[in-house]
Amino acid sequence: MSAHQQTAASPFIRACRRQSVPHTPVWFMRQAGRSLPEYLKLREGTAMLESCMRPDMVTEITLQPVRRHKVDAAIYFSDIVVPLKAIGLDLDIKPGVGPVVEQPIRTRADLGRLRALEPDDVKYVTEAIGMLTGELGETPLIGFAGAPFTLASYLVEGGPSRNHERTKALMYGDPELWADLLDRLADITAAFLKVQIEAGASAVQLFDSWVGALSPEDYRRYVMPSSVKVFEAVAGYGVPRIHFGVGTGELLGLMGEAGADVVGVDWRVPLNEAARRVGPHKALQGNLDPAVLFAPTSAVETKTREVLYSATDLPGHIFNLGHGVLPSTDPDALTRLVDFVHRTTEV
Ligand code: CP3
Repeated sequence: MSAHQQTAASPFIRACRRQSVPHTPVWFMRQAGRSLPEYLKLREGTAMLESCMRPDMVTEITLQPVRRHKVDAAIYFSDIVVPLKAIGLDLDIKPGVGPVVEQPIRTRADLGRLRALEPDDVKYVTEAIGMLTGELGETPLIGFAGAPFTLASYLVEGGPSRNHERTKALMYGDPELWADLLDRLADITAAFLKVQIEAGASAVQLFDSWVGALSPEDYRRYVMPSSVKVFEAVAGYGVPRIHFGVGTGELLGLMGEAGADVVGVDWRVPLNEAARRVGPHKALQGNLDPAVLFAPTSAVETKTREVLYSATDLPGHIFNLGHGVLPSTDPDALTRLVDFVHRTTEV
């Protein structure tokens, strides 16, 4: 049986397809790494990008939160810049900072450095996913990639950015170059997702983490075509496609329209309102504020009940945080939260 068939009856995959579930499935963005002592120990002495290229490490780190928290899905341990590194860009992930690009992409000549991604560039991904699906059995593995806009923001800025000013300068100042840049990134992203699905990932999430910096009009004109291209490229596999960004309340409808089966929602928009914005036929994922996990257990439970209540009438709800697990989160708070959601929603 293929990994896709093996996980089809899991609560996570069923919820993505808006089918009935025995309990609301739960996983956490950035559940692997960060807050787990067993992760920090394993990573000691190995640089982030190097660890992403070692199938044994990737497999162990991906499994750690599944064992510890009993989440309903695993997310492949990697980073959004891994495919860019794989095609030869000179970039690194600086601890506590994020991705840093030695020579930013800002001119037409720079585009030449963005060559196509071939499956052989990321053999370690195929190998790690093969190992993982064997270990995970009926628990689905989520593959992921960065969306063209969010990748472009790192490439153009040269690193993390608060206001994305250089990115926007290029987008408004040279729309043709911008469109070509996003189109190339769409091809790389699509190729990277295909590798993960063909190796056995049962769902994929496209992270457009920073696209909430744009208005709906600009999203539609400057970003949506490339995200549509990515989703269309993987539509034929029939695996659920999730789309998420931070601060995207005004973009939720368009992000669904781009081709997502599941729309991720941050904590700023209640799920019933998000459902209204996204329209029918889509599942929703979210949306507890990750900072709530620093409050006492009783407060976490109250806020979690609010999220679940807001999702009462939704046919497909995957419980998640409204963004990634914050690094200093108490791992036990996450374990308790998974158990609380399962117990509260059990039918
Ligand atoms: O558990 C998981 O979710 C899988 C692992 C994962 C990582 N990065 C590992 C990582 C995932 C899904 C990502 C995605 C990612 N990376 C996104 C989209 C998700 C989001 O948070 O919005 C973005 C924007 C990035 C870019 C990135 N990589 C940043 C901003 C940072 C620095 C801040 C941070 O998160 O620590 C990274 C580094 C990174 N990616 C680390 C890990 C475990 C830390 C590595 C280190 O410090 O050595």
